[in-house]
Amino acid sequence: MWAVRPLNGSWRGKTPFSDSDIREALLGTLEPLSEARTKPGERRVSARRGRVGEENDFFSILLGAETMDRIVLTGGVPLRGDVEISGAKNATLPILASTILGGGECVITNVPRVVDVVTMGKLLGILGAKVHHEGNRAVINAEVITSTQAPYDLVKTMRASVLVLGPLLARWGEATVSMPGGCAIGSRPVNLHLAGLAKMGAEVSIEHGYIRAKAKRLMGAQIYCDTPTVTGTENLMMAASLAQGTTVIENAAKEPEIADLANFLVKRGARIVGAGSDVITIEGVRELHGSDHDVIPDRIETGTYLVAGAITRGAVTLNRCCPSHLDALLMKLREAGVEVEAEKERIHLNAAARLKGIDIRTLPYPGFPTDMQAQMVALMTAAEGTSVITETVFESRFMHVEELRRMGADIKVEGNRAVVTGPTKLAGAPVMASDLRASAGLVLAGLAAEGTTEILRVYHLDRGYERMEEKLRGLGAAITRHKEGAAPAETC
Ligand code: UD1
Repeated sequence: MWAVRPLNGSWRGKTPFSDSDIREALLGTLEPLSEARTKPGERRVSARRGRVGEENDFFSILLGAETMDRIVLTGGVPLRGDVEISGAKNATLPILASTILGGGECVITNVPRVVDVVTMGKLLGILGAKVHHEGNRAVINAEVITSTQAPYDLVKTMRASVLVLGPLLARWGEATVSMPGGCAIGSRPVNLHLAGLAKMGAEVSIEHGYIRAKAKRLMGAQIYCDTPTVTGTENLMMAASLAQGTTVIENAAKEPEIADLANFLVKRGARIVGAGSDVITIEGVRELHGSDHDVIPDRIETGTYLVAGAITRGAVTLNRCCPSHLDALLMKLREAGVEVEAEKERIHLNAAARLKGIDIRTLPYPGFPTDMQAQMVALMTAAEGTSVITETVFESRFMHVEELRRMGADIKVEGNRAVVTGPTKLAGAPVMASDLRASAGLVLAGLAAEGTTEILRVYHLDRGYERMEEKLRGLGAAITRHKEGAAPAETC
């Protein structure tokens, strides 16, 4: 995200701008005044620091293109050593969105430094919250909100922006949120978010590409989700926290990130029981106060480094993770012949033995996570025999398969199943990332491949993996990043 080139700019007055000014302006830590595109690939950002009227109070900078970096890696090195797991992106996003449910300072730690989190910080800044984000700590105060609108320009870069819908509506009585579009993995509707809010008494309409929702005060309701939806459950749980009366969400999603959000809300005064199970009961309260919270470890990042160890026939130790959130994956890795030993907050993996082909079916939690599917398809190319990987959560999540085939993999896609025949010695090739987890799958394939793999469009990876090349280098991987031209903003 900081990979933008300043073309010119200054604080009004004398002080020249600095890198940290740019960073703070983009994060929304400085009060944002305006942001506009000038030519394609350029942005003009204006922001203010300090009180109006002070010298040097306005900052305006013309920024060049965000870079579309490339990753180049040479495969064949068994990974060895320790890696520290970051906080969960998918827990951080709803937790940050939920800060607008009440006033008071919220101090969130173990926040991963990834682009999606920066985008959420920026959205909160646009809504008027005070956001200060430094290292892995974010301090947010949403005592005052100046806007209830999440603009298209932001939502199109990250569909999880829709998580501000429930909180805005519940606390401020209205919300206008750009309708998220489809993305590389399927159509991804938000009908269940909207139906649940309507059940709670909101007037909901779609106008000119925007979701408009209004309600004087939401009313508790009995809501049944036709399919368990993660962000849908989060949106409804946040909205119900301030509703009048009791809400019951049935067939709720059970992901650990939902329980983490509920724990944070309860610390702030919400009354929620059952988060993490398929029935969540929320007794609405009048207001929420500020609180501290330490985000849970990222189970998908953990899984990705486990597969990195397995696919390179290495031996890795993952620290500061939560093995109990990864039962399905650990069982599948063991079934494939990988030695995995789990402690309370640590996992040791040893993949010296031959890998066996296995079948996998993605399902909502506690089933096998769809966010680990691409990585496991890559792993199965190195396993002996036939593996069938069935994707049941998203409709078109096999974009990585074409790229893996270009590296020599034998994979057939039949409907929602990928049939992988192995083992194949993959050969390095230039490949294109299509979404966050597909990119991770390609990095893993590159780590196992003979020769050099060049991964294009790695901005997808930056959305969800903190310092990935650095962490992989720490395990012995030969991986480097090269800075290149302009990155488009894409939805997912
Ligand atoms: C979240 C995760 C994403 C993960 C996904 C599934 C975040 C920020 N993102 O996405 O990384 O891949 O869960 O584990 O946490 N559906 C509907 N109507 C709706 C909502 C969802 O039909 O209103 C369907 C979807 O099309 C999909 C299924 O429900 O088939 C699950 O999607 P959902 O759990 O909502 O995914 P996200 O919350 O978008």
